Amino acid sequence: MTDGAEPLTRRGFVRIGLGLFAGAYAAAVGYPVYRYANAQSGESAPVSKVALPDADALPAGSALMFMFGGVPATLIHHDDGTWACFEAKCTHRGCEVRFEPENRRIFCGCHEGVYDMRTGEVVSGPPPRPLKSLSVEVRDGEVVVGA
Ligand code: FES
Repeated sequence: MTDGAEPLTRRGFVRIGLGLFAGAYAAAVGYPVYRYANAQSGESAPVSKVALPDADALPAGSALMFMFGGVPATLIHHDDGTWACFEAKCTHRGCEVRFEPENRRIFCGCHEGVYDMRTGEVVSGPPPRPLKSLSVEVRDGEVVVGA
């Protein structure tokens, strides 16, 4: 008595095994490449606000780096108690910029671009545009940054 199914031959078994192996290999190699390509394209879910719990305790004269969506950002608490926040992505070639309190500037080390620490305007160097400014609201123990 037969059920109509062909018996699995050794060759068929090897083919199925190779197919599974090829699929697993493609997934193992392809997924990290896909993730890397997406990260490089800068595509991410749009973000309009980020709450930074306890950031109101940031000492005056210092800064906090964080991610605003997929973009690095810097929250600056100035000596006079005022706040500023900018995307920390240089407008020249996209390097990450850093607040330098000792030099009272925002600096890009890639090509020595200098930005004003209060306005994000270009002070010197090759950057063609100011840093993108983000709004800052301090409330109830947290700082809320918005686009
Ligand atoms: S990438 Fe910042 S100055 Fe060139």
